[in-house]
Amino acid sequence: MQLLMAANWKMNKTCAEAVDTLTQLKAQLSGMDADRECVLFAPFTALTACAETLDNNSRISMGGQNCYPAKDGAFTGECSPAMLLDAGCTWVLTGHSERRAIFGESDAFIGKKTAFALESGLKVVLCIGETLEERDSGQLAAVLERQLREGLAGVDVALSAPNLAVAYEPVWAIGTGRVAGPKEIVEAHTLVRSFLRQRFSTQGHDLRILYGGSVKPENAREIIRLDNVNGVLVGGASLQAESFSRIALA
Ligand code: PGA
Repeated sequence: MQLLMAANWKMNKTCAEAVDTLTQLKAQLSGMDADRECVLFAPFTALTACAETLDNNSRISMGGQNCYPAKDGAFTGECSPAMLLDAGCTWVLTGHSERRAIFGESDAFIGKKTAFALESGLKVVLCIGETLEERDSGQLAAVLERQLREGLAGVDVALSAPNLAVAYEPVWAIGTGRVAGPKEIVEAHTLVRSFLRQRFSTQGHDLRILYGGSVKPENAREIIRLDNVNGVLVGGASLQAESFSRIALA
């Protein structure tokens, strides 16, 4: 199983800035081990220019940060999976906690996006994670189980394992500098793995589970060595090529 090292640039970088960072990253990651792949979730406006910056030999793929679950139509401000594919993407993110919290996306809607994106030929990173309040009130397992059940509701059990990854991102660790400890990460990833095994039988063993939330060059190596951690999803520390490449090569 290849580790998936993912960068989420969120709403940052103009086109020129994005291409500049990616050009540096391409050079820094050219010697990356074959056991890893990188995906860069860039803003919509920079996707085409970034995809054109990559070549067949580069170890980086492009992804959209969001999509709408319809082929086309009157959905002002939205972007379809077909448009992402057209812009050179192979991946899309669904269920990011910022989409859930700021844009009110429900588990059911996230499930529709996940299934539709996969059917459309994109690979998907489905993000899940509990708030501090949910964790403190003993709801960790119930929240993760609900987000996985609904987020994956329409997904074909016969899917190809490299096409879907789940990112466990505790909301209290995103952008806060407070990374989850090894025990917390292993506990959550074990819950996710057991759900995936039940849902997808043997395939569930091969789906990648990423950790996200304040991943930095200083903690990445320790995190990717933990049981059932098959990569990372990085926000703040992915904005500079140097810091993301140190993570990707950790
Ligand atoms: P962070 O963000 O690395 O800045 O905590 C992670 C994410 O939101 O995916």
